[in-house]
Amino acid sequence: MTHPDHVLIFDTTLRDGEQSPGATMTHEEKLEIASLLDEMGVDIIEAGFPIASEGDFAAVSEIAKLAKNSVICGLARANFKDIDRCWEAVKHAERPRIHTFIGTSPLHRDIPKLDKDQMADLIHETVTHARNLCDNVQWSPMDATRTEHDYLCRVIEIAIKAGATTINIPDTVGYTAPRESADLIRMLIEKVPGADEVVFATHCHNDLGMATANSLAAVEAGARQIECTINGLGERAGNTALEEVVMALKVRHDIMPYHTRIDTTKIINISHRVAQVSGFPVQFNKAIVGKNAFAHESGIHQDGMLKNAETFEIMRPADIGLAGTSLPLGKHSGRAALRAKLKDLGYDVGDNQLKDVFVRFKELADRKKEVFDEDLIALMSEGTDAEHDHIQLQSLKVVTGTGMAPEADLVVTVDGVEHHVVSSGDGPVDAVFSAVKQVVPHSARLALYQVHAVTGGTDAQATVSVRLEEDGKIVVGQSADTDTIVASAKAYINAINNLIVRRQKTAPAPTM
Ligand code: KIV
Ligand code: ZN
Repeated sequence: MTHPDHVLIFDTTLRDGEQSPGATMTHEEKLEIASLLDEMGVDIIEAGFPIASEGDFAAVSEIAKLAKNSVICGLARANFKDIDRCWEAVKHAERPRIHTFIGTSPLHRDIPKLDKDQMADLIHETVTHARNLCDNVQWSPMDATRTEHDYLCRVIEIAIKAGATTINIPDTVGYTAPRESADLIRMLIEKVPGADEVVFATHCHNDLGMATANSLAAVEAGARQIECTINGLGERAGNTALEEVVMALKVRHDIMPYHTRIDTTKIINISHRVAQVSGFPVQFNKAIVGKNAFAHESGIHQDGMLKNAETFEIMRPADIGLAGTSLPLGKHSGRAALRAKLKDLGYDVGDNQLKDVFVRFKELADRKKEVFDEDLIALMSEGTDAEHDHIQLQSLKVVTGTGMAPEADLVVTVDGVEHHVVSSGDGPVDAVFSAVKQVVPHSARLALYQVHAVTGGTDAQATVSVRLEEDGKIVVGQSADTDTIVASAKAYINAINNLIVRRQKTAPAPTM
């Protein structure tokens, strides 16, 4: 801790965020998000739960090796096996942290059937064990906001005596409210012996829509670490959103005089990437990063904005990395304009990638009056090395109408060999997917199919996400097109191509 008013930002997108149903990310995606978090100035990255799976362990270890600035943290339950596994993963980091936790509320104590004394002993043993491995240890009493205050004080004192350096106070079920959140932190800092030697953290969930308010109230009461995720990704209604607390502290510095190290101009880029890789689109009116957060459509607002942006804007779009003014791109735009716009959106493309994106941009611009930022983001999320894909879509025709089963007429090439199939289904998408499956039979389960119109109007681009699961492994396919059925076909084929690559990577090496 450098300054008493410095608030540490602890990002748990890769642990609590990734834990939300359906938000699974691939290994490469986790590494990419971690490096964006590291670059944007996140103080601590919770990279995963190493004992949970081989994949989590590998991701945490790799992130620990790659991180340049951030502390790398892994999660562990209150047992030696979890803690040892966590240490094995985080120990590669320049600045590792072990985060161990146990549920302390009456309901949570009931699960391992421990009485208060037995749990207190376990906390002492496990935190001591973690501290013997690592000098940076965070301890969390899960469901702290529903734990009896006297017992909470008692176990926090034990954890501090055993060597914990950060005490995190989770509102696991999103139950608290701002005044209560502040009172709890204030009471703990006043009452627990040794509290002034550790950092108190706040970890809020958004079940009642109060996670940001609760986190900020905790800071005003003395917490100096906020646990949060990009876009508020997380279990159920999500966690505190990083972009909300960071921008609130920046914009209302007059009444909340605290600092973070976050480079806020990197917010929009990482928000887009997390939305893409998790498959969880950001709601249009989401604070800070929603598509409409800086859009003004009513006449009165537009008029005011033209005279003075501050009339209706409390922060500038550029503060979060958005280009302030929108320069519409269309079919007459050239490469330089496209490159500049992509740069504004956070994509630094090299000459080869620009060549590929430009071709697809022109195809899109031919079909749309105006190409919006969101269209370009969708375009960038498409595979750019389509020419190396095993399966490639050549043509698709879908016939649909009342009283008939939709029929898909599909031509694809598989490793250069052309296949033509016709298939029907319960709906046009089902017909297309079953046609693809006839050409490339597989047993992967369709775990998610999601359509998201990225711009308004009847010529809107649809982004389609497809998630396939095979042997517990998940692959994602994405694509964008003004035609939802074509986007669906391309996303499905993209997912199968990724599945083939995944199988090749995990296949045992041939024996000599
Ligand atoms: O919400 C919670 O209680 C957690 C803990 C593991 C810190 O995520
Ligand atoms: Zn949580």
